[in-house]
Amino acid sequence: MRFGHFDDEAREYVITTPRTPRPWINYLGTEELFGLVSHTGSGYTFYRDARFRRLTRYRYNSVPTDAGGRYFYIRDGNDFWTPGWAPVRRELDRYECRHGLSYTVITGERNGIRAEVLCFVPLGAAAEVHRVRLTNLSGRPRTLQLFSLAEFCLWNAWDDQTNYQRNLSIGEVEIDGSAIYHTTEYRERRSHFAVYAVNAPLAGFDTDRESFLGAWNGWSEPQAVVDGRSRNSVASGWSPIGSHQLAMDLAPGEERSCVFVLGYVENPADEKWERPGVVNKARARELLARFASDAQVDAALAELKAYWTVMLSSYRVATGDPRVDRMVNIWNPYNCMVTFNISRSASYFETGIGRGMGFRDSNQDLLGFVHLVPARARERILDIAATQLPDGSAYHQYQPLTKRGNNDIGSGFNDDPLWLIEGVAAYVEETGDLAILDESVPFDNDPAIAAPLFEHLKRSFHHVLANLGPHSLPLIGRADWNDCLNLNCFSETPDESFQTTGNRTGRSAESVFIAGLFVHAAPLYAALAETVGHAGEAVAAREHAGRMARTVLAHGWDGEWFLRAYDFFGNPVGSAACEEGQIFIEPQGFCVMAGIGVAEGQARKALDAVKARLATPHGIVLQQPAYTRYHVELGEISSYPPGYKENAGVFCHNNPWIIIAETVIGRGEHAFEYWRKLAPAFREEISEVHRLEPYAYAQMIAGRDAPRHGEAKNSWLTGAAAWNYVAITQHILGVRPELGGLRVHPCLPKELPEVTITRRCRGAEYRIAIRNRGDGGAPALRVNSTPIAGTLVPWAPPGTVVEIEVEV
Ligand code: BGC
Repeated sequence: MRFGHFDDEAREYVITTPRTPRPWINYLGTEELFGLVSHTGSGYTFYRDARFRRLTRYRYNSVPTDAGGRYFYIRDGNDFWTPGWAPVRRELDRYECRHGLSYTVITGERNGIRAEVLCFVPLGAAAEVHRVRLTNLSGRPRTLQLFSLAEFCLWNAWDDQTNYQRNLSIGEVEIDGSAIYHTTEYRERRSHFAVYAVNAPLAGFDTDRESFLGAWNGWSEPQAVVDGRSRNSVASGWSPIGSHQLAMDLAPGEERSCVFVLGYVENPADEKWERPGVVNKARARELLARFASDAQVDAALAELKAYWTVMLSSYRVATGDPRVDRMVNIWNPYNCMVTFNISRSASYFETGIGRGMGFRDSNQDLLGFVHLVPARARERILDIAATQLPDGSAYHQYQPLTKRGNNDIGSGFNDDPLWLIEGVAAYVEETGDLAILDESVPFDNDPAIAAPLFEHLKRSFHHVLANLGPHSLPLIGRADWNDCLNLNCFSETPDESFQTTGNRTGRSAESVFIAGLFVHAAPLYAALAETVGHAGEAVAAREHAGRMARTVLAHGWDGEWFLRAYDFFGNPVGSAACEEGQIFIEPQGFCVMAGIGVAEGQARKALDAVKARLATPHGIVLQQPAYTRYHVELGEISSYPPGYKENAGVFCHNNPWIIIAETVIGRGEHAFEYWRKLAPAFREEISEVHRLEPYAYAQMIAGRDAPRHGEAKNSWLTGAAAWNYVAITQHILGVRPELGGLRVHPCLPKELPEVTITRRCRGAEYRIAIRNRGDGGAPALRVNSTPIAGTLVPWAPPGTVVEIEVEV
C-alpha cells in the first residue's frame, strides 16, 4: 500500500494523504540554517547546531505525534483549518505534500479555498522562507483571516526542556511593524536573535503563547483563531511565540500570496544595540529585504533547484527501472547530503540534544557525498582528523559548533581510527588532491601538536597494531562498529552507559570485524603512503595486512563463517558453539570485502551462510539466533528484545557490506537482490509495513524475531545512506574512482541488460554504456572505441569527454 508517489521529473515525493503511518519528513537548508519539516508542516529550525542554536521548539514523544512547527491557520467565517491538515485536523477537500530537494510544498483545500505553503531555506541565507498562497476557487467573494505561528525555543534545546525555573522568566521579544523579534538572552551573553516577519501589513499579532492559545487549548484550537482576533500580546517571560494575523478579501478566482521569513541574525559584540535596550535590526532588515517579493522568492527557489541539478550531475544512471534510477540519481545522494549536514544530530528519532558528530559515522558518511561536495568533504576531513588523539585513537564524537572532541563519551572505540583512512582515501581517489596529506592538522585540537594529515593516518594504522590481543587480532575496546557489542563493560546497574562504564579492564576481548576493516584499509593506506614517498611504510603495511589476513583465517574462522569476536574470557562470539548469536553479519561483509578467504574458498562459504541463516524478505538480520536474555559479558546488544536494533534487527548500514562482498566474488544477482530489499523506493509498495518515508533510508528494519518484522525505525540519519549508495553505484553498477583511474567493473543482475552512466570526476566526463549478458563473465572495455586490457580507465584531462563501452 502506498501513501503517495514519486514525481521523478520534479524530483519530488508526493504524499496524497495526511494519514501516513508516521510523520514523513524532509530537510530544509544546505549550509548553516536547517529545518525539519513533516508532511503536515510540523518540525523545527536551528542554526548550525541543533542543541545550542535552536530557533523553534518541537515536542518529541508527544501525543498526538508531531507537535510544533510552522503553522498557518485559515479562518473562514466560523470555520478554521490548517493546510497541512494537522494540527487542526479539519477534513480537507484536497491535500498534497510535495517533498522536494531541500524544499516542501503543502497544499490544502477546503470549501473553495486553496492554501499552498512553500518552505525552503534560500542559498546564502540564514532564513526559512514560507510563502503562503491563498486562492479563492469559489464563485463568490471571500473574507479570510490568516494566522501564522512559530513557537520560539529558548536557544539551548536541552536547557529549554529541563530548566523551567529559569526559563519561564526569561522570554523577551520586540515587535517592529510586521516583524517579530525573538530576543531572549540577548541582553546577556548572546549576540544573536531570531526574526519572524511577513511582507504585508498586520491586522494583529501575538507573541505570548498563552494569550494566543488560551490557557487550556492546544495547537488544534488557538483561542485567537477561534475568535478571529489576535490579542497583540507582548511576551514577557513564559513562552514567546510569533504569530501574525492578516486580513484578506479574495474576489472569485483571486490569488494572493504573502512571504513569511524566519531568520537568524548575529550582530558583532559592539553593534548589538540600536539604542539602549533596543536590538540593532539593521542586518535583519537586510535579510528580510532579500525575500520581500514573490519574484525574489521564485528566483531563490530556482537557484536552489539549479544547485541540486548541478550537484546531482556527477553520477547519473539510466537502467530502465525507474526505482533504481530514482534511488541513484535523486534520493540516495540527497539522503547522503542530509547526513553530511546533520550527521546524527536532528531527525524525528534524534532530538538534536543527544549526540554530536561521530568520528566513525562522519568518515563513513563521507563515502556517500565526497563526489557531490569535494571541497566541503576536505574541510570535514580536517575537522575530524583534528579530534584524533596523539596515540592514534580518537574521540568517538565531537560537537559541530566547537569542533572539539566530546569528553562525555571519550575514546576507546578501536575501529574509529581506521575509518579516517577509509574517508581520506575516498577523498583522494575522488579528487586526486594529494596535497591534503601534507596539511598540518592538530591532534586533540591542540595546534602545538599538529602534524601532516598523513601522520594521522599512520597513527590510525599503528594504533591497531599496538593494540592486538591474545590471538593477535585487534582489541575491541569499548565497542567496534557495533556500538552495542560491549565486551569489557559488564554492566549490572541500570542507568549506566553500556559503552563508557567499564568495570573490568583487560586486554583480551578481540574483534574479527576490526581485523577485516584493517585488511581492507591497509592497501588504501599503502597506496597513499607511496604517493607521499613512504615506500617502506607501504611495503610494511601490506605485510601487516597479509599477516592479519592469515590470522583471521587461523583464529577468526569458525568452519562455515567468520567469527565475530573473542570475549573478555577468550570465548568465541558468533560461533556455531554459541548458544545464541552464532553468526554475525559484520565480519562476513568486511572480511570478504577485504579479500580474506576469496582465493581459499572461505569467502563464498561465509556468504552462503549469510544467505541461509541471516537473509529475510526484509533484508539481512545482524545476527542469529537473537539473544533471548541479557548476556552481561556481551553488553547492550543483548538488552534489546529479539529482532530490534543490534539484537537481530536488519541494520541497513551493514547490509551493503554483504552486497559489496557478493560483488567481490562475482555474484551480481545476489548483490542486487539484497540491495533491492532495502532500497526505500522498492519498499514503497509495502509502506503500510515499512511505515517510514519511502524516499530515505532507515537505520533499522525490525528483524524476523520481532512481532513487527519489516517495520522501519530511525529514518534519514544513518550510515545506510552512504553505504547503500557506494554498494549500488561503485560495486553493482561498478564505477568507482581509484588513484590511477576510473574503475569500471559492473557486477549486474540479468534484469538490468542495458545501463548507461554519466560520471563526472576530476573535471572530465565519462559516458559509460554497459551491455550486460548476465553470465557472470569479466567485463571487456573499449575506451573511445579502443579496447583496453583490464577495467581501469586512465584519468582523462579536465574538460574532456570519454566514451566507454562495456560488455559483460
Ligand atoms: C551508530 C553507529 C554504529 C551503529 C551500530 C549507530 O547508531 O551511529 O556509529 O556503528 O549504530 O551500532
